[in-house]
Amino acid sequence: MPDLFAPVTIGAVNARNAIAMAPLTRQRADANGVPKPFVADYYAARATAGLIIAEGTQPSFQGQGYCRTPGIHTEDQIASWRRVTDAVHAQGGAIFLQVMHAGRIFHPLNRVIEGPGVAPSAIAAKGQMWTDQQGLLDMPTPRALEAPEIPALVDEFVTAAVNARKGGFDGVEVHAANGYLVNQFLATGSNQRTDGYGGSVAGRIRFAVEVTQGIAAAIGWDRTGIRISPGHMFNDLVDANPLETHLALLGTLDTASLAYVHLMLPDAFDPGLNNAGDPKALLQAIRGAVKGNLIAAGGYTPQTAQAALDSGTLQMVAFGRPFIANPDFVHRIRHGIALSDPNPDQFYTPGPEGYSDYPAAA
Ligand SMILES: Cc1cc2nc3c(=O)[nH]c(=O)nc-3n(C[C@H](O)[C@H](O)[C@H](O)COP(=O)(O)O)c2cc1C
Repeated sequence: MPDLFAPVTIGAVNARNAIAMAPLTRQRADANGVPKPFVADYYAARATAGLIIAEGTQPSFQGQGYCRTPGIHTEDQIASWRRVTDAVHAQGGAIFLQVMHAGRIFHPLNRVIEGPGVAPSAIAAKGQMWTDQQGLLDMPTPRALEAPEIPALVDEFVTAAVNARKGGFDGVEVHAANGYLVNQFLATGSNQRTDGYGGSVAGRIRFAVEVTQGIAAAIGWDRTGIRISPGHMFNDLVDANPLETHLALLGTLDTASLAYVHLMLPDAFDPGLNNAGDPKALLQAIRGAVKGNLIAAGGYTPQTAQAALDSGTLQMVAFGRPFIANPDFVHRIRHGIALSDPNPDQFYTPGPEGYSDYPAAA
C-alpha cells in the first residue's frame, strides 16, 4: 500500500513523501514582480513537503492581474526565484512553479503596463478585484486576442517554463484552472471565438494543449504538470459542459508522459460554485482519463488523503490552507501534533507577517 509519508516518483522528481503543497498566491513580490527576500524563508520552511508547487506566477507583464504577484520573465525575477529554489533544495525539497496568466481577471491599477488585459473574447468577468490604491474595483472588459497573437502567447508560456528551469525549479505546472487565461479558453462562457481557438470542444482545448505540449517539448514531459478545475465557477468561469471539455483535453494530452495532472475539486471553497455535480463522480471520471500520476486538492485531511492513495485514485495529495500556518505540516500530521489556524486577513498582505513568521511546532 502506498504510504502518505513514503517516497514517490512524480515525473523527474523523487518526492520524499506523497504530500504536495498546493499553489498559493500570497502577493509577496515587489512592484516589478520580483519575489521579496523573505519568500525564500517561507518556501524553505515548507520544504518537507514531497513537492512544493509555488504560487501562480505570470509569464509576462501582460499576464499579471492582481497586485504584487511574481513573474518569471525578467532577469531580476529569475535571480530572486533562484534564491528560493536553492533554499528549498538545500533542505532536500523539490519545487515546481505554477505558470499563471490571469487573462481577463485583472485591474489596470495592479499592472506595470498600460492598457487592458487580454482574453479569448472581450467579455468582462463579473466581480471585483483588490487594488492597493483604491480598494475593491470592478474588473474591466478585456481585449480579445487577435488570431496572429496566439502563437506568440504560447511561446510566452514556453519561455516562462525555460526561465523557471533557469531559476532552479524542478518543473512547471500549467495553470489551466480557476478562471484564468487557459481556463478562459476552455469554457463556453468566456470563449466565444469563431476561429480555430474557439467554438467546438476541439477549438476550445487547443490553447491548453499547445501550451502544455510546447512546455513539455522544451523542458521535458516529466517536468510538466497541468492543473485543472472542471466545473469550478470561480472568477465567473462558466462552461456549458465542463466534464466533456476536460475529458477531451485529457484525451488529447499524453497524460502518461506528463509529470502529473492536478485536479482542484470544484467545491473546495464554495459548493455553490460547483457546476460539475458530485465531486466524487468527477474525481473518478478524471481518474479514468489520466494515464499517469493524478494529484488532487480541496479539503483533504490526512485520513482522506491516505484513503485516496490506498484506492489508487491519487498518487499524491495537495494541501493548500494547512500549509499557510503550519510550515512543518508534514511533521505535525505524522506525529499527531495539533495544526495552527491561518489568519485570512494576512493571506495577501505585503510583508512577512502572517507569511514567513508562522513557527514550527515546539
Ligand atoms: C490564499 C490562497 C491562494 C491560492 N492561490 C492559488 C494559486 O495561485 N493557484 C492555484 O491554482 N490555486 C490557488 N489556491 C487554491 C489552492 O491551491 C487549493 O487548491 C485550495 O486552497 C484547496 O485546498 P485546501 O482545502 O487544502 O486549502 C489558493 C488558495 C488560497 C487559500
